[in-house]
Amino acid sequence: MDLFESFVTFKRLLPELVGISYSTQEKLPMTMTLGYITPHYVETQLEHSKVTCYLSKKTTLRDEVIIRNLSFSMRNFFSQITEDLKELTVPVRKWQAVELAAQLSSHLRIDRLLKSIQEGLCDLLDAEAASILLYNEKKGVLEFMVTVGKVSGKIERIPVPMESIAGTIFQEEKTMIFNDLSKAKHFKGVDKASGFITRNILGSPIWRESEKIGVIEVLNKKDGGFTESDAEVLDLFAKLIGFKLANVKNYENASRRLKSVILSIATAIDKRDQYTHQHSNNVTNYALNIGQKLDLTEEKLEELEISSLLHDVGKIGIEDAILLKAGKLTNEEFRKIQEHPKIGAEIMKKVHFITQSIIAGILQHHEKLDGSGYPQNLKNGEIDLFGRIIAVADVFDALTTSRPYKDPWPVEKALELLEKDADAKFDKRCVEALKEYLNEKRAVS
Ligand SMILES: [Fe+2]
Repeated sequence: MDLFESFVTFKRLLPELVGISYSTQEKLPMTMTLGYITPHYVETQLEHSKVTCYLSKKTTLRDEVIIRNLSFSMRNFFSQITEDLKELTVPVRKWQAVELAAQLSSHLRIDRLLKSIQEGLCDLLDAEAASILLYNEKKGVLEFMVTVGKVSGKIERIPVPMESIAGTIFQEEKTMIFNDLSKAKHFKGVDKASGFITRNILGSPIWRESEKIGVIEVLNKKDGGFTESDAEVLDLFAKLIGFKLANVKNYENASRRLKSVILSIATAIDKRDQYTHQHSNNVTNYALNIGQKLDLTEEKLEELEISSLLHDVGKIGIEDAILLKAGKLTNEEFRKIQEHPKIGAEIMKKVHFITQSIIAGILQHHEKLDGSGYPQNLKNGEIDLFGRIIAVADVFDALTTSRPYKDPWPVEKALELLEKDADAKFDKRCVEALKEYLNEKRAVS
């Protein structure tokens, strides 16, 4: 066992582990560190040495117990490497594989995670392509995970039979190199469908503890064939990433279920008014594209999605006679309508997963930078970024769709109005981001 393997052993129980450091207290103190150093760590004092485990999140009592127990149970190993430490050389690419796995811990969405794994592995192993196949227990097949579309993040699953190279790697349960594919009897099918010509393949099973969950394949070494050293790097990476893939998959399943409930609520709100049908969906699409242009993190984009879908949830509390009135609203009726952001925020505040930002988006989506908005007449910096983003998305959708009192405006005219009011009423960055997205969309279609 070497320090890498000890890292892997710890990581199996602690997916948030991003670094491990070992130091001796002999005459010459020596330290060996892998991965990232973060402010969150647990130190375990052994007889002649100290093991420090770094985590990507605040440590909990459970983490401390696991780390201390593991460190003690591995104390023989740690004392043995005291002697070997001087000669211990770290292959740079193994270090990079650990680093790559650690970097991926911030991903919440599987499409982004897959993309980063593919790009990272191609760089690390000097290959043309990389793919992830996850095992579908119900169907008994491996499935290629292919990302569809830039924004949608949809994952398409292409089944691959067990009589394939990936299937062989999965069944043999070991990292395998196929440098001469003409000799590989199981090589068929997938190339024709993708149009990609595969010259050689290096693949490794992905593990989550003792459960095989899939296969990582790296295709076409740019220079010659894959080597044993490449295989060691991929093998290590596959051991580190299993937990993360499984966690993200579970998170996505839970998140999908939650979003389908939220979507049903949003649809129910929209259905009350035939003119605003689809409104919440449209606003969410615009808001997310603005958020992406503003480089929001994945976590923030998830929150923005929920906030946008629910931005008008407070309309539940507005009576039909006012909400659906075709004619001009009286001042009193307009005052009542203006209560919907507050009602929405009140309702959602009680739900425990709803964050402050989500509430701010719901409460502040009718505020204007000059203080002329409602319900709190907030100004400039008082308005949360979510409030500003949803305000732009909301007004743009309202302008470009039919209402009882107006025909839909052309995109250019709506953008002109938003640009004219940018800085006075709307956040200029949000308007610019929306414009950029619409231009890109037009260029594609
Ligand atoms: Fe609204």
